Amino acid sequence: MNMITLNNEAQIPQLGIGVYQVRSADCGPALACAFDVGYRSVDTANAYLNERAVGAAIRDSGLSREDIFVTSKLWPPDFRYDKAVVAIDRTLARLGTGYVDLLLLHQQYGDYRGAWKAMEEAVADGKVRTLGVSNFNQRRFTDLVSGAKILPAVAQVECHPYFQQRELKEFLAPFATVLEAWYPLGHADRGLLAEPLFARLGEKHGKSPVQVILRWHLQSGNIAIPRSTNPEHIRSNFDIFDFALTSEEMASIAELDRNRPFFRMPDWVGRIIFPAARINFDKRQR
Ligand SMILES: NC(=O)c1ccc[n+]([C@@H]2O[C@H](COP(=O)([O-])OP(=O)(O)OC[C@H]3O[C@@H](n4cnc5c(N)ncnc54)[C@H](OP(=O)(O)O)[C@@H]3O)[C@@H](O)[C@H]2O)c1
Repeated sequence: MNMITLNNEAQIPQLGIGVYQVRSADCGPALACAFDVGYRSVDTANAYLNERAVGAAIRDSGLSREDIFVTSKLWPPDFRYDKAVVAIDRTLARLGTGYVDLLLLHQQYGDYRGAWKAMEEAVADGKVRTLGVSNFNQRRFTDLVSGAKILPAVAQVECHPYFQQRELKEFLAPFATVLEAWYPLGHADRGLLAEPLFARLGEKHGKSPVQVILRWHLQSGNIAIPRSTNPEHIRSNFDIFDFALTSEEMASIAELDRNRPFFRMPDWVGRIIFPAARINFDKRQR
């Protein structure tokens, strides 16, 4: 497994598994398969409503806690300082993992500076090891760090060969903030997975188009967290450490960049929806 050293010296596996839209009942089998194959990093969130199942799967794996990297995320209605203090403890209680390796602000709306202060205190208290952001644009990232004691180690954003995030990566470089790709497979977009280039490169390397895309992420320096509940996919997505794309091949994938995300939401909608969208995590967590 490739490990990436973050700006606080913590190490994160470059390939993990995501559990967005995975029902709690399906988390156990998927994660048992993933741990068996060799994955050691899981990406969940308060809003995914499956933290309890993720924690149970980690305990059931029999692996040592220190060998697994757990990421979770706070949701905007919990972004005031005092609310975030409570939300962090609730996340910890649901996961039951003692500490969270990486805690992210899930969205760039609401009182994210207040929440960040609570997250910094959680680091000082040993509840959280590393902090990061998700879905922050450059302006709000700049606003956050202007009042922060701890710099985000990770910026989790949509990223795949159709949306390569080159400008954001340049912006993040001075902070040594690493890009973590959500929708690393474009949410299984048919057009992306059927790109003739990936089929051609896959044939050459004896790999599938998906494996070529995931290998591209690794060689681009991205952390990738593809989601799957299909054991065959979970296994094959991990089988990407025994080949390398040439610089010419990487350059040809660079040309696929459309610099356009699949997921788009006007900023004003985000400002209204995210801080208001109240999920009763305690009642709905399964
Ligand atoms: N921070 C955020 O706002 C945010 C937003 C979205 C996602 N995320 C994180 O990023 C993770 C990944 O994003 P995502 O799940 O939306 O999209 P994704 O990983 O790009 O795509 C997942 C889809 O790809 C399919 N798939 C996986 N491996 C495959 C393979 N080898 N061959 C064919 N199909 C394959 C999966 O189906 P099968 O189950 O059938 O394999 C699933 O339908 C999430 O789970 C979550 O942890 C974060």
